[in-house]
Amino acid sequence: MTHLEERLAERGLKLLKKEAINGSHAGRIYRIEAVDEENQKANLVYKEYETDRNNELHLYLKYSDLIKQFNKVVTVWDSRPKAILMHDLNSPLKKDFELRSGSDKRNLIERILDRLAVLHSLSVGKNANGLPTHETTSDWHEWCVDQMNRLCEQNHWTKTEWIKTINNAYEQLDLKNFQQQCPRVITHGDPHLENIFLKDGQIWLIDWEWAALSSPLRDITILCQDLYDTRLIQFVKESYQKVLHNNDFHIPSEEYQRDFNYFYIDHTTMMLAWEIEKYLQEYTSEEKIKEIIEFKIREINRVTNELGVS
Ligand SMILES: Nc1ncnc2c1ncn2[C@@H]1O[C@H](COP(=O)(O)OP(=O)(O)O)[C@@H](O)[C@H]1O
Ligand SMILES: [Mg+2]
Repeated sequence: MTHLEERLAERGLKLLKKEAINGSHAGRIYRIEAVDEENQKANLVYKEYETDRNNELHLYLKYSDLIKQFNKVVTVWDSRPKAILMHDLNSPLKKDFELRSGSDKRNLIERILDRLAVLHSLSVGKNANGLPTHETTSDWHEWCVDQMNRLCEQNHWTKTEWIKTINNAYEQLDLKNFQQQCPRVITHGDPHLENIFLKDGQIWLIDWEWAALSSPLRDITILCQDLYDTRLIQFVKESYQKVLHNNDFHIPSEEYQRDFNYFYIDHTTMMLAWEIEKYLQEYTSEEKIKEIIEFKIREINRVTNELGVS
């Protein structure tokens, strides 16, 4: 019997099918089909961690009451190989997001924002004592410049102004010394559309590796990273301010705007670096990476200019 078969057997489950979910993941992830003693089928996902990368597992153990409100976790194994078993939530929202109509996209975004507002409104003391605090640093900036340089070495189509735009934004905004303005809340830390699902009429969030105390705008600007439409990004920005207000979470507009803009630039830079990584690992086509870079650089420029300091 394999580890997985033994582990399922402990829970009265028999493995029928196992299929790897391929991609550049933090561990080995399998979609599995199993049956219980009453012959009821269960569709599950098993995520096994690399030995040096299991922060997520510790969060699942320590903050299980919190996370189980947002992800359908079945069980967690702290012994080797460390792993979690979850219900299969079907496809992440990223899969067909671009095929949806404008109003459909906005409806879906509103549902995600409502769900994030629930997380952001939870009491830190009751739910997340000891959760680390996220601070903006120069890490994403440095990583992105390194990635841009790697890209330049290999491709003639790169533009030197890309790095200039990023450097200019960080310098003008003094981003590495930025202090968040909004109150510290529990943030998921990585709610892009590959980590968000709609199942049984509810929004679910997986991949809690980066959960930390931070500004609510930390999450909102990560969500924006899968949107390639400036109007939709503006819609997110405006909608979430209203959602917080409706949840009796009142943040002065100036503080909200400031956190949004700064976190948005930092996360757009981070995501640029990650997108370049996926291109270098051949998960993305040349045509696609060019579109991604052009859009994100335009966005960094737009927001830096809006702040009136470039
Ligand atoms: N519970 C789940 N249901 C359906 N798909 C899942 C589930 N967990 C993971 N996946 C799939 O595996 C991918 C990677 O899982 P994730 O936990 O986000 O790992 P990583 O840290 O590598 O991003 C997800 O984007 C999704 O496609
Ligand atoms: Mg993920």
